[in-house]
Amino acid sequence: MSATDTYARFVRPILFSLPPETAHHLALRCLRAASHLPFALRALHSFQPPARPKTLFGINFPNPIGLAAGFDKNGVALPAWAALGFGFIEIGTVTAKAQAGNPRPRIFRYPQQEALINRLGFNNDGADVVAARLRSLRRSGRWPGIPVGINIGKSKITPIEEAADDYLLSFRLLREFADYVVLNVSSPNTPDLRTLQGHGALDRLVRAVQKENQASRKPILVKIAPDLLLSDLEQILATCEENGIAGIIATNTTLDHAAIPTALDQAGGLSGRPLRGKSAEFVRAITAHSRLPVIASGGISGVASAKEKLEAGAQLLQVYTGYVYRGPGLLREIVQGL
Ligand SMILES: Cc1cc2nc3c(=O)[nH]c(=O)nc-3n(C[C@H](O)[C@H](O)[C@H](O)COP(=O)(O)O)c2cc1C
Repeated sequence: MSATDTYARFVRPILFSLPPETAHHLALRCLRAASHLPFALRALHSFQPPARPKTLFGINFPNPIGLAAGFDKNGVALPAWAALGFGFIEIGTVTAKAQAGNPRPRIFRYPQQEALINRLGFNNDGADVVAARLRSLRRSGRWPGIPVGINIGKSKITPIEEAADDYLLSFRLLREFADYVVLNVSSPNTPDLRTLQGHGALDRLVRAVQKENQASRKPILVKIAPDLLLSDLEQILATCEENGIAGIIATNTTLDHAAIPTALDQAGGLSGRPLRGKSAEFVRAITAHSRLPVIASGGISGVASAKEKLEAGAQLLQVYTGYVYRGPGLLREIVQGL
């Protein structure tokens, strides 16, 4: 039996018998604990996919499949993700101020659609606590041997007009730990955040961060929503190119819930299988209109959906919802099938 079959038959039923956020915390607690235990890390190694190296932004990735933002928002289990065989990890979204996020329940499963809806609202420990955690990890000698991206966003209480200062605070605290930094302007669960994708606002934000980045010279990426109009997308790409942005992450979750029966629908961002086609379209549109490298995110849950994104022009891939449904065997399945 393959690792994905074993997960689907024995592990997923246990996790899915729990409320989604409880299951998430349980899985993360196990991985956090495993991160401190050499024998547990060795056991997780059994899921490693074969090497398939790739260099992008001058960074070496052992394989092209990363963990998407939001799974390990606070960076608590980096050694475990590396042991499981991810080619890179993106922690966050981290905000300048610690925040609790929206009231629970705020994650919903749709097994028939292999989808999730979430309206977490950037629950995270805040940039200073995450920076302290990463510093202590580095000092402990357990820093993972794979690239780490850090995804930053705006604190809810910061007015949208002051967004750039909020991002800058997180950027200053976290950049030293990041192989690349992502400006998340596309989460649907922080009021007005997506207005930062608008021309003037994005230009101001990106300029401010790049000014601060002159000494550190980290690759800065922008993560976009799949609900943009093509004309908006072209404008975003132009702004990114003008300001030396290293790449685009396409895409975040969608507000298009057409795939979900109305009676079961919930407010929030939809991810997983129903997002697959839309995000592939965005990858295609980006590579057609610009030379910016793309990290694809959205509905990748097996070989076909991964190949589709690469054929659309993506350089690297990220998984989240597909990993929840398919489990740790997914990485080997995809890398072997590419
Ligand atoms: C529960 C949950 C929380 C998420 N949190 C974040 C986040 O904090 N920041 C972010 O940029 N994306 C976040 N995302 C979006 C994912 O990173 C990813 O872009 C999106 O889910 C599409 O990929 P998928 O279909 O493989 O899940 C979250 C997604 C889910 C399902």
